[in-house]
Parts: sequence; C-alpha cells; structure tokens
Amino acid sequence: MSLSLAADLANKRPQHIAIIMDGNGRWAYRRHLPRVAGHRRGAEVVREMVQRCVDWEIPHLTLFAFSTENWRRPPLEVRLLMNLFRLLLRREAKKLHENGVRLRIIGDQSNLAPDLQALIRDAESLTAENRRLTLNLAVNYGGRWDITSAAKRAIAKCLAAGRDLDSLSEEDISAELCLADSPAPDLLIRTGGEERISNFLVWQLAYTEFYFTDTLWPDFDGNALELALKSFAHRQRRFGRTGDQVQEDACASD
Ligand code: IPE
Ligand code: IPE
Ligand code: MG
Repeated sequence: MSLSLAADLANKRPQHIAIIMDGNGRWAYRRHLPRVAGHRRGAEVVREMVQRCVDWEIPHLTLFAFSTENWRRPPLEVRLLMNLFRLLLRREAKKLHENGVRLRIIGDQSNLAPDLQALIRDAESLTAENRRLTLNLAVNYGGRWDITSAAKRAIAKCLAAGRDLDSLSEEDISAELCLADSPAPDLLIRTGGEERISNFLVWQLAYTEFYFTDTLWPDFDGNALELALKSFAHRQRRFGRTGDQVQEDACASD
C-alpha cells in the first residue's frame, strides 16, 4: 500500500464499497474472444478485490454479478454465467472461509437452479461466522425487486402486529432489505464507462458517493481501486447540511 493511500484510508476509510462490474463483454470483443472469456477474467478480478478489501480493512464489499434484467441475454451466455457461479462457489468457498470472509448471495434465488441454490446455502453456512470481510454477491438481484419484497414483508409484519399502516416507516422497510445488517455503501464504483445504476441497490445508494471509470472490469486492479479510494477520500459528504457545518463538526471531533 502506498503511503498516500494509507493516509487517505486513515482519514476516510469506506466501510462498504459496492461495485457494478461492467465491461467484460467489450474486453473480450477487443481481443476477438468470446464474451465468456471476459466473464472468466472478471472472476479473477473479484478474487483480487476481495484480497484488497481484506488487506485494506474495508469490512463490506457488494458486487453486482447478475441483474434481474440479465436474463434477457442470449440463453447460452446466461448458462455460461451460471456455470461460472457454480465453479466459483465450488472452488472459492473454502478459500474465502480460510481468509475470514463471510459470503452472502443477495437476490431472488427462487429462479436459480436447485443445485446452485444448494451450493449457495453450503457456502453461506460455511462462512456465516466470519467477520473480517462480508462479501455480498448480487445474483439475480434488482433494486426494485429488493424494495418490493421488503415492502411486502414490512406491511405483513405491521399488520400482524396490529399496527396502523400509516405508521409504516422508512426504518420498517430498510429492516427488510437484503443488506439490512450492513451499513449503506459509502462508495459505488462502476467500471466500463456507463454512468447509470442499472437497477442495482436503488434504495441503499441514496447517499453513496459515485465513482465511474472507463476501465473495463477485467482490467480493474489494485491500482485502479486505489484511485477510487483516493477520489472518495477527497469528497465532502454533507448529507443535506452545508459545507461549513460539516467542517465545524470535523473540527469539534478533532
Ligand atoms: C458485466 O459485463 C457482467 C455482467 C453483466 C454479467 P458485461 O457482460 O455487461 O460487459 P459489456 O457491458 O457487454 O462490455
Ligand atoms: C449491470 O451491467 C449488471 C451487472 C454488472 C451485473 P449491464 O451491462 O447488465 O447493464 P446495462 O444493461 O448496460 O445497463
Ligand atoms: Mg454491460
């Protein structure tokens, strides 16, 4: 780790990074390779990012691997992506466990193949007690699905408790979302040049700092992550207040 990154992290270390891992297909096209070659290379980058977060003491990492909209892709690509998840779960679960990583898969698992669901259950229960890093992998995840399911559960609980529906609060819904027990992401990184959310963590990103880069996901590495962290360290997060108020608070707590 460079000295300047150490200083930036000491000053402002994100507790939760979320990443939209985009650009695998274009990375492959540029090399005249099939798209799946980009996805395979992208999976290697996941391993490196996990290690960086462990080394740099960033406790939560959420990666967008497959959206509810990605079913619209050609069936062969979908099948190959699902096979890649299988391989990852089979090969990596033990290594993640040894590294103190808790793995959680977020998203609607009901339309995943039964054997994939079983692999997910095994990997999650193997790593459930680990706390060095929580790695959330979003598979068949959509922000709107997350909010809709959370709202249904929150309403059901509210009614079952005999409460008036008017008393339903943001906290009631937050408590039912996929990442209810993680802090909201501090930093969202999207690789691949697009500047959109693509139905990722729609609710949870309300006050997240965004960082977009043209770097394609298979080319993203530790140095690229370092640049994102440096950019984050120099943001002033105001949460609705004025810059002066934020500075006064910072001085008071020094
Ligand atoms: C992101 O890369 C991976 C998934 C969405 C599964 P893409 O496959 O979207 O790559 P591009 O955007 O076509 O380059
Ligand atoms: C977003 O990438 C989803 C993932 C990275 C898994 P897409 O490539 O599917 O996004 P759009 O369709 O270009 O917005
Ligand atoms: Mg894409």
